[in-house]
Amino acid sequence: MCGIVGYVGHSAGRGNTEHKALDVVLEGLRRLEYRGYDSAGIAVVADGTISSRKKSGKLSNLIAELEAHPLPDAVTGIGHTRWATHGGPTDMNAHPHLSDGGKLALIHNGIIENFAELKQELTAKGVTFLSETDTEVAAALIGDLYRNHLGGDNANGGLTKAMELACQRLEGAFTLLAVHADQPDVVVAARRNSPLVVGLGEGENFLGSDVSGFIDYTRRAVELGQDQIVTITADSVAITDFFGAPAEGKEYYVNWDPASAEKGGFPSFMEKEIHDQPDAVLQTLLGRSDVDGKLTLDELRIDTDLLKSVDKIIVLACGTSAYAGQVAKYAIERWCRIPTEVELSHEFRYRDPIVDANTLIVSISQSGETMDTLMAVRYAKEQGAKTVSICNTNGSTIPRESDAVLYTHAGPEIAVASTKAFLAQIAAAYLLGLYLAQLRGNKFQGEIKDILADLGKVPAKIQEILDNAEQIKELGKDMADAKSVLFLGRHVGFPVAMEGALKLKELAYIHAEGFAAGELKHGPIALIEEGQPVFVVVPSPRGRDSLHAKVVSNIQEVRARGAKTIVIAEEGDEAVKAYAEHVIYIPETPTLLAPLLSTVPLQIFALALASAKGYDVDQPRNLAKSVTVE
Ligand code: F6R
Repeated sequence: MCGIVGYVGHSAGRGNTEHKALDVVLEGLRRLEYRGYDSAGIAVVADGTISSRKKSGKLSNLIAELEAHPLPDAVTGIGHTRWATHGGPTDMNAHPHLSDGGKLALIHNGIIENFAELKQELTAKGVTFLSETDTEVAAALIGDLYRNHLGGDNANGGLTKAMELACQRLEGAFTLLAVHADQPDVVVAARRNSPLVVGLGEGENFLGSDVSGFIDYTRRAVELGQDQIVTITADSVAITDFFGAPAEGKEYYVNWDPASAEKGGFPSFMEKEIHDQPDAVLQTLLGRSDVDGKLTLDELRIDTDLLKSVDKIIVLACGTSAYAGQVAKYAIERWCRIPTEVELSHEFRYRDPIVDANTLIVSISQSGETMDTLMAVRYAKEQGAKTVSICNTNGSTIPRESDAVLYTHAGPEIAVASTKAFLAQIAAAYLLGLYLAQLRGNKFQGEIKDILADLGKVPAKIQEILDNAEQIKELGKDMADAKSVLFLGRHVGFPVAMEGALKLKELAYIHAEGFAAGELKHGPIALIEEGQPVFVVVPSPRGRDSLHAKVVSNIQEVRARGAKTIVIAEEGDEAVKAYAEHVIYIPETPTLLAPLLSTVPLQIFALALASAKGYDVDQPRNLAKSVTVE
């Protein structure tokens, strides 16, 4: 998830002369930095040439670079703030990427799934690549089409036509913005499964990943549809589909203030990030398998023979990430038949764990900097284990020190309480489990393909929950005075219950506990008194019969003792209605994938309750986003 800005104005003496491309683009990048901040870059078109600067690290590094090596004045420019996916956060991998002998500059948000095949093709034509990015491949493709297919002749459609032809070849998710030295007053952009908005000015036009990219200059915006290309000049905006047929966007007026624009119009980053979840899961799944469902986890550079010989997996993580690990344990053990333990990182090395060369350590960390997890990974490595990191932050310490990494592509998580990273971690851990099953022959390719297809349907189902969240929001508000809330679940619903309780503790500062439903009778049921709110995560009735029936009896047990039950159940599960004060229905999905859905209402509940109490949901008291002390 990167931030993208584009601008075209008029040259001095015409139209709006006060804006320089550099200023507009930098201001846009500053507002979009929440989308990614591991490198930034900018390209302007001036005097028939492209000039660009790019720098790893925060935007301030790019600004220092621009002060040391200023760019020429220009009225056409593009800028990028990166959240690394392909290739680490280095100067070289930063965008823009150039092609056509330095005459074309491209920036990109998303993942080009077929980049390896295109790279091979372009390499055979003599193209050389400087970075590890998929973006440079897209730049080379557009450059090649512009120069060699269209003869570099703008009468043949120029950059817009080259973009069209390239988009017909590209697979995956992308927003692309390109400028070319031969067309100095044009920015061409394309989008598929990745955001792009046009800003309409007077004698100037803008592009942004979202409206915060240009909100300081105009409030008139055009939302582009899927698979569309837009060509902007200072006075025109032309939209087509990927085959050149004219198309239309949807114009609207932005009445958000600049601060809420950065939050996508939501009152908090946390709410925005909850709404980012369909995309976080989609992006994490993208580009990992071919049409036959064969997984190719390119980043997982551990010898496959070693992976085949693994006889134990230990998942190391803390907090929410550890709950993602607990969910993953059910899937990995079922799919791969490898014994899997989940251990809190800070407990791990103090108990003399049994770890050897056949142990695979899977660390899970959003930040990649959690000291407890880092120390546990180091310890496991010393014992000879192989280490894989599931991480959301490219280039952070834990993936750097691990033997291999599987990145989640949730984009930056700004709110302290983790939401979208959790779902993305589960999705990534599932990919790892399926990959091991494929490698070790525990599952037929067709079975893996079916599970991947079910996973592929999850983002739309999360969206459905988000679109119908009124009931759970109301519940959150109504329960603002609750002193304690309990959460029950069985099987994969158990870690979901613990995650629901954690969200409530950290956001609303009230007592909350998650229990394995079967454990109730062994003690916790004594907590139940008249009116005690209890959330129950109910497994699908279509799954293992006994599981559903057992949880239904647990609901009855607490209800009989006065609990007020709020049940999260699958659509069509009529049986639970009789025992619930409130039923929150979620779409049908296979049992193992259900946490990707059942967690979402619990996040929304905690957010609504904490907001009703007037608390700062982005920065709850006493907490930090990245815990770099032991
Ligand atoms: C809870 C939360 C924390 C983190 C934990 C690990 O909402 O965010 O429990 O999950 O501190 O952090 P990472 O995943 O960065 O290692």
